Amino acid sequence: LPQTDFKDKNILITAGPTREWIDPVRYISNPSSGKMGYALAQAAIERGAKVTLVSGPVTIDKPKGLYHFTSVETANEMYETVMTNLSPQDIIIKTAAVSDYRPKDKFENKVKKDKVNTNLELISNPDILYTIGKNKKEHQFVVGFAAETNNIIEEGMKKLIKKQLDLIVVNDIQSDDAGFQSDTNIVTLIDKNKNIREVPKVTKATLSHIILDEIVKIQKG
Ligand code: PMT
Repeated sequence: LPQTDFKDKNILITAGPTREWIDPVRYISNPSSGKMGYALAQAAIERGAKVTLVSGPVTIDKPKGLYHFTSVETANEMYETVMTNLSPQDIIIKTAAVSDYRPKDKFENKVKKDKVNTNLELISNPDILYTIGKNKKEHQFVVGFAAETNNIIEEGMKKLIKKQLDLIVVNDIQSDDAGFQSDTNIVTLIDKNKNIREVPKVTKATLSHIILDEIVKIQKG
């Protein structure tokens, strides 16, 4: 029998990269394919949830049965869309790889090769997850991701606390078959009570169900 433990739960998931434009032909981004976030959306739909997916630019197909879908490009657009859709959500999962910085100004025309000053001035983007964690309502459960290259647990723990999360999924993006673009992932889950659980290499589909199981477990207390 299919599991329906998320029946009628509103879940908002962000996925994919953001693009921060420098000029009309160039942007700052990252290699996120959207696979992890889309797999989570698929798993949540299978378990009965009403899923709102906010996605950066990706080339994969979106899961069938979404409640709501918005495609965004920049971190600012993702911020606006998430905030607009936030209040009815029971669970928020931020899988997206959001650019922390954007160019201060977008050049109106393509920057030419002979331009003398090649310095690019960057300014900070809003931290979407931090804003959600800080303002979360009693009924809301907030899950963050962290893409790390070193001191994995320590860095994950810092983000869990700073962003006031209920659960963080820490990605060791240096490992083979993990992190950006792969069909599998290797993560460590850390919950708000600092319980640490290592998840060995599994497909992103399987990991999605493990994350949902963990949410159920934590909510039961
Ligand atoms: O899309 P795939 O190719 O399947 O790859 C999956 C993944 C590697 C992108 C995913 O598993 C992952 O690790 N996502 C988080 C990537 C990331 O941006 O991590 P971070 O450590 O920079 O950010 C920490 C958390 O804060 C994330 O939940 C992020 O969504 C959030 N954030 C970050 C910056 C910002 N300005 N706003 C945010 O909300």
